[in-house]
Amino acid sequence: MSYYRHHIFFCLNQRDNGQACCAQQGAQAAFDHCKAQVKAAGLAGPGGVRVNKAGCLDRCAGAPVAVVYPEGTWYTFVDTADIDEIVESHLRGGRPVERLKLAPEVGR
Ligand code: FES
Repeated sequence: MSYYRHHIFFCLNQRDNGQACCAQQGAQAAFDHCKAQVKAAGLAGPGGVRVNKAGCLDRCAGAPVAVVYPEGTWYTFVDTADIDEIVESHLRGGRPVERLKLAPEVGR
């Protein structure tokens, strides 16, 4: 059994050269919201869920992006309602959110 049941990483990378990046697409707010919701739901900690910051995950064209392990499910999202759905369905319920999955061909 792994230390965390689910581990979600949010790219918070900021680019200053005009290229697409997660920081310009609300990634910090989404990260903060996710962390707060996981804590409020009592899911945080060993045996539960860990929410972490990450640098560039090299899938910037889909910004903002996050990835959930151990499944390796990649998401792109728009607002806090999307984050709420990831928390409730995937991180609490173990059911990935199909409509928010990042298309497999999306890269940098
Ligand atoms: S800037 Fe977020 S994946 Fe590259």
